[in-house]
Amino acid sequence: MQTNPAFVQVTHNSATAEIFQTDAVEHLQQLPDSSVDLLVTSPPYCIGKEYESTISTKDFEKEVRRSFTEMFRVVKNGGSICWQVGSHVTNNVIVPLDYLIFQEASKLENLYLRNRIIWTFGHGIHANRRLSGRYETVLWFTKGNDYYFDLDPIRELQKYPGKRHYKGPNKGKFSGNPKGKNPADVWDIPNVKANHIEKTGHPCQFPVALIKRLVESMCPIGGTVCDPYSGSGTSAVASLLTGRNFTGAELEQRYLNIAKDRLEELKAGAIRYREDKPVMKPDMKSSVARLPSHFEVGWKNG
Ligand SMILES: C[S@@+](CC[C@H](N)C(=O)[O-])C[C@H]1O[C@@H](n2cnc3c(N)ncnc32)[C@H](O)[C@@H]1O
Repeated sequence: MQTNPAFVQVTHNSATAEIFQTDAVEHLQQLPDSSVDLLVTSPPYCIGKEYESTISTKDFEKEVRRSFTEMFRVVKNGGSICWQVGSHVTNNVIVPLDYLIFQEASKLENLYLRNRIIWTFGHGIHANRRLSGRYETVLWFTKGNDYYFDLDPIRELQKYPGKRHYKGPNKGKFSGNPKGKNPADVWDIPNVKANHIEKTGHPCQFPVALIKRLVESMCPIGGTVCDPYSGSGTSAVASLLTGRNFTGAELEQRYLNIAKDRLEELKAGAIRYREDKPVMKPDMKSSVARLPSHFEVGWKNG
């Protein structure tokens, strides 16, 4: 592991990723106008992680205000901004932080919200006085109305792939799109917790699969992705894996070191990441003998 990378640059299959050890907004200020196809990020969101100096939503608002106009400036017309965030929780009171982002975004002309993607996952803190939180959101905005979006690389298998109409004027033709279905706006992708194969020393990583979907559908091959709060470099990894260039920033050297290691592993063909595949559901048949009775009754009754 390097002790002082300050700047990381890795080229793989003609795409280059660079991450600077600097402040997010200072990095954005170095980038030319309209030079980024997709800005995807998750700045600290005041939930008490070790890299966060404050735990107040006021500070989150301040950071959104400080960075949003610069993000908007560097994104091309027709490009996208994806902002991933969760909720702030104190004393069992929650504040959904994406509404603060939406408020700030609404002040910018020519920026449009396309989807509020619900990212749902299986693991997290177990609440006792409310329901356990198992989703966060990604707000997807586009700069302008004529925007880049390619659905094909992120299509999913239908429930009944290859099914055809059996009557009517379309008899014999595929009833769904043979390329697969739209993955819709609720994405079940495991979060990176202790046993996840992507886990590094960063406390709050994106899963590669989440960012890969955004990169593949919102940035053309050979285009540029930016994450000004890069953390362990997941957005950089997803970009290089799919032939997109990447530029980013991260304040803390220990996280830049992790990003550097991951990018070098990727170049060497040794990076480990979870493929974007369906999440395993409990196997009721094999576990029914051990189930509490109310589950057993539910299962037996179908
Ligand atoms: C939520 S984490 C991002 C994690 C990242 N998505 C990943 O997959 O690893 C936010 C990151 O922003 C970094 N950070 C905090 N303030 C920053 C600033 N002003 N400029 C750049 N990075 C900053 C933190 O050190 C932290 O790694």
